[in-house]
Amino acid sequence: MSTNTDALKRYYRFHAAIYDSTRWSFLFGRSALIQRLQTMRLQPRRVLEIGCGTGRNLAMLARAFPKADIVGVDISQDMLEHARRRCSFAEDRVFLECAPYGTQSRLGGFDVIVASYALSMMGDGVGAVLDAVKRDLRHGGVFAVVDFRDSRFAFFRRWMGCNHVRLDDGVLPQIRERFGESVVSTHHAYAGLWRWFMLVA
Ligand SMILES: C[S@@+](CC[C@H](N)C(=O)[O-])C[C@H]1O[C@@H](n2cnc3c(N)ncnc32)[C@H](O)[C@@H]1O
Repeated sequence: MSTNTDALKRYYRFHAAIYDSTRWSFLFGRSALIQRLQTMRLQPRRVLEIGCGTGRNLAMLARAFPKADIVGVDISQDMLEHARRRCSFAEDRVFLECAPYGTQSRLGGFDVIVASYALSMMGDGVGAVLDAVKRDLRHGGVFAVVDFRDSRFAFFRRWMGCNHVRLDDGVLPQIRERFGESVVSTHHAYAGLWRWFMLVA
């Protein structure tokens, strides 16, 4: 297990308790991404969220796609405890796995894979994670991402680095390398303090 993974687990041991009451104020676009998937009139049988955290998106996905099995993978057991409670209304078809993505057991054949504010926390591991997405997505499947993109303010990049988030525009090119020029929109947060992006490939 990498040092980065260990550091993240420690970070979320504390942050799990305050995650939902704080993150609404800066993890923008999460609901919009799922609404976007709904408008695509997909009929997925298997949906995966990488780095599902406290299960906010999993619960929305379970409601949006009532016939689908929903799998959430996360390295933090503390975050997954919240996800388990939140998704109890669909416990027969929401499956949670505590593992670094790429090593989980329910591999392959996903119709939709979602990564919401997870890739920006994976440091140098992003490439390997994206390779695993290519492997796990069935032919014609949809990869949907919302995440931080960059900031022109060094102090803010440093602060977010202390919170394990990269803001160097390093993730999007790696996605494009593997998934082509997908539909991307970029948005400003707090008058340009940072930019975030949404992508459907
Ligand atoms: C900022 S949270 C996002 C949670 C959720 N997707 C959301 O949008 O609210 C990032 C999550 O990714 C998880 N994570 C980070 N690296 C991971 C990895 N390599 N494999 C699986 N989960 C990972 C963290 O534990 C954390 O719960």
